[in-house]
Amino acid sequence: MQQTPHTPVALVTGANSGLGKATAQHLCAQGFRVMMVSRDRARGEAALSELSAHAVGAPPELMLADLSSQADIRRLAAQVQARYDRLDVLVNNAGNTFMTRQVSVDGVEMSLAVNHLAAFLLTALLLPLLHAAPAARIVTVGTRLETAMQLDDLQWEKRPYNGLAAYAQSKLGNLHFTFALAERLAGKAISAHCVHPGVFRSNLGRRSGPSPLWIRLITALSAPFLTRPETAARRVSYIATAPELNGKTGGYWGDRVPLPAPPQTRDPNIREQVWRISQDLTGRPFAE
Ligand SMILES: NC(=O)c1ccc[n+]([C@@H]2O[C@H](COP(=O)([O-])OP(=O)(O)OC[C@H]3O[C@@H](n4cnc5c(N)ncnc54)[C@H](OP(=O)(O)O)[C@@H]3O)[C@@H](O)[C@H]2O)c1
Repeated sequence: MQQTPHTPVALVTGANSGLGKATAQHLCAQGFRVMMVSRDRARGEAALSELSAHAVGAPPELMLADLSSQADIRRLAAQVQARYDRLDVLVNNAGNTFMTRQVSVDGVEMSLAVNHLAAFLLTALLLPLLHAAPAARIVTVGTRLETAMQLDDLQWEKRPYNGLAAYAQSKLGNLHFTFALAERLAGKAISAHCVHPGVFRSNLGRRSGPSPLWIRLITALSAPFLTRPETAARRVSYIATAPELNGKTGGYWGDRVPLPAPPQTRDPNIREQVWRISQDLTGRPFAE
């Protein structure tokens, strides 16, 4: 085991870019030992050396995993469990957009696989380590897009594929997941929150295939008016660390203020159906 007893430990997915890198940087600056998860060694090592300068205590470390692969997620979780005996903060940040329908190695539509199921499975597998921390937090990065999950076609097999709608639907999964998880962890020393980070400049969707011209144009034209990921990361690290949130769970947050939950997520029946489908698609990692 590597950490000293008093060094809080955090894991951030998608930590080589954008919001994840900036959040990892905030946590390093607050004295966390940060595991930075990246799917690409070169991009991960570049971010690691950039962030090493910000570490107050233990240096951050890099872990490699393609979160579209459930085998990779299981390998990552086993690696974390072999190296650490507790986890104080888990930031489920990695996300992507797909403008054409793509399917993961597990046969799952990619938006659902990367944006929702990866967080679901990784959290389930790391739950024993989170239980071992005195007061752990799970922060899942959502987005504020009003939509609904179409439960009879979560994978876009019956409808014409729409990349933006698939993204929005998968990100709503983050919220259903957070609410259902918080209910299941009630009374335990683990809280679960979902945060909308705002709209900011990043590399979102740049590595998942070509985007239509109109999306590239909107992205380029809007970039100068968007905030930086470092600003958005303040929201995430606040939820991950603020002492005033001790004892609170199941929150949906904007910039340090609670956001209204979208209508569909207030329906416990739908929330439970999303949970059950997610369990089925990931090999039932949560003990019922
Ligand atoms: N940008 C916004 O305005 C905005 C708004 C609301 C919510 N969000 C959310 O913020 C989060 C971070 O996104 P970002 O905007 O910072 O975009 P970003 O710069 O592209 O960062 C996304 C991170 O996720 C990683 N990732 C993507 N697919 C992965 C996979 N299969 N396995 C492992 N890692 C993978 C990326 O790795 P690579 O570098 O290898 O691609 C990258 O490190 C996402 O959950 C996104 O939905 C963003």
